[in-house]
Amino acid sequence: MLTEEYSTSMQKGSIVILDFGGQYAHLIARRVRECGAFSAILPPETPAEKLKDAAGIILSGGPQSVYEEGSPQADAKIFELGIPILGICYGHQWTAHALGGTVKPGKIKEYGHTSIDVLGGSLFEGLPKKFTVWMSHGDEVSVVPSGFSVFAKSTTCPIVAMGDERRKFFGTQFHLEVVHTENGQEILKRFVSLCDHAPWSVDDFSKRIREQVKADVGDRKVFMLVSGGVDSTVAFTLLNDVLGTDRVQGLLVDTGLMRKDEVKTIQKTFAERGITNLHVEDASEEFFTNLENVYEPEQKRKIIGDTFLAVQKRVSERMGLRAEDGWMLGQGTIYPDTIETGGTKHADKIKTHHNRVPAIEELIAKGLVIEPLKELYKDEVRKLGEELGLPHDLVWRHPFPGPGLGVRILCAQEPSSTEEGSVPCDVPYAMLPLKSVGVQGDGRTYRHALVLFADFDAEPAKFAPLATTIPNADRRFNRVLLCLTKNERTDFTFASRSITRERADLLREADAIVDEEIRRADLYQSIWQFPVVLLPVGFTDSGQTIVLRPVASQEAMTANAVLLKRAQLQSIVERIQKLPGIDAVLLDLTNKPPATIEWE
Ligand code: XMP
Repeated sequence: MLTEEYSTSMQKGSIVILDFGGQYAHLIARRVRECGAFSAILPPETPAEKLKDAAGIILSGGPQSVYEEGSPQADAKIFELGIPILGICYGHQWTAHALGGTVKPGKIKEYGHTSIDVLGGSLFEGLPKKFTVWMSHGDEVSVVPSGFSVFAKSTTCPIVAMGDERRKFFGTQFHLEVVHTENGQEILKRFVSLCDHAPWSVDDFSKRIREQVKADVGDRKVFMLVSGGVDSTVAFTLLNDVLGTDRVQGLLVDTGLMRKDEVKTIQKTFAERGITNLHVEDASEEFFTNLENVYEPEQKRKIIGDTFLAVQKRVSERMGLRAEDGWMLGQGTIYPDTIETGGTKHADKIKTHHNRVPAIEELIAKGLVIEPLKELYKDEVRKLGEELGLPHDLVWRHPFPGPGLGVRILCAQEPSSTEEGSVPCDVPYAMLPLKSVGVQGDGRTYRHALVLFADFDAEPAKFAPLATTIPNADRRFNRVLLCLTKNERTDFTFASRSITRERADLLREADAIVDEEIRRADLYQSIWQFPVVLLPVGFTDSGQTIVLRPVASQEAMTANAVLLKRAQLQSIVERIQKLPGIDAVLLDLTNKPPATIEWE
């Protein structure tokens, strides 16, 4: 069984982040770890009694007003625990509210960069007297609680930061955890140094988790699905390292939707480490058969997911990997997968991770699941992977969606048209007879993309503003692309297509070309993710189109299109154009929002 300490992931000496529902709880937790302190995220209403072993508490931001009915409240007894407390944005306002200060709507709602004047306080010691911070608030503290002093102000907000040095309680109206706040990490470091915290480093964690794996598994064995992604590869390697190859069994389901040579590369990587207990099941035919004549994106995902489960169940039964015979399930779950930020009750957006579906929760409750990475962030998993001796290229590879290339092979039965109307665009354009997923406001959209045609010497960056103005002004569109292979306006043709092995092979080749070329040009590390997408549209009857979608991002919640230069794209475009049946290559210029990273 998992120990209480491990399962709550709040070990003694943690700095606890109480998540009031902003998007930043994970970012704060990571920044705290960068200061060398153990951090854990807990729901805002966690009773103070449960927090008495914490070294410090950080109250996160959140979208509501402290005086609004139903707004998230922490247990005010946390102020009696005698440990340092730092409130950020909503957390700062809640601190003032809970300790007898006053919070009111600000005169001006502030979003973005603001210059502040530092007046004093230990958290600001040695820092410049004036610097830029990042604000996102409607409310502000107008009267500090008794015992507090004002530490910083701005021209529009008289109490930007406050603190009570004696009790070690602090609050900042700005988000010190985001990169746009100058000196943010320095302020956090000063707070962390006031806390009597447990140390954090991947090395220490690695030692601790090895002991934990031994204790949790006991004399049982572990069965694990391996996808080729960073998390499952690192988890599988660690389990083999700790338990030995005869007590671990891996299964890799070849869906036919994996990247070029991926299965061979994974097998080779493990074989080089003496890990030969990975069974590869080629189920590609079954996947392609089930996906025949399927056109809806959600339907496609469901079929891929269901087929995967059916194959996994069949193979594990065939191999006799049953709980009664002493087998546990291993998963590569990482920390953000276990905690959706926004807490539970206060979440603006909740999604259940596939590692936390009810059937898996049941197994977890029975102590039948081992997740060695469940306290780690992605960067930490990568460091652990390097420590285990896994190849650098594998450990630092771009994220790749679970359903593989299946997400990126667009399917449609009929061409899609939209109502006529002029588009606010002075560059020649054509509409794609196809819709794709985007995200605008709080919801997903399913709209058209617009393709621009321009002289071959005009750089993509020149057209980037249109990728914001067009979707903002015209609700028919959520994406704007630049055609890299034609400079004159041309209408697109359409052919009804679903996922087939031929299309998967074609996209696999285009994807491999992109991967090879961006590594060769030394662009791989500077691009966060580079989806390559196959569309059932072209300029001839049966032609198809490839979309290049390089993005810069931190956590995939938002993303910016990477505006590569023509020279950087040249070899990619030339090679993809030579693939059979490819009529056009397009570059997606759209940020997220209004588009998503993937096309679906
Ligand atoms: P979107 O397209 O929503 O993608 O902007 C955000 C991030 O999530 C990845 N993604 C997935 N990952 N299973 C996964 O494991 C999925 O079904 C899935 N769909 C999208 C996507 O690649 C991007 O990094």
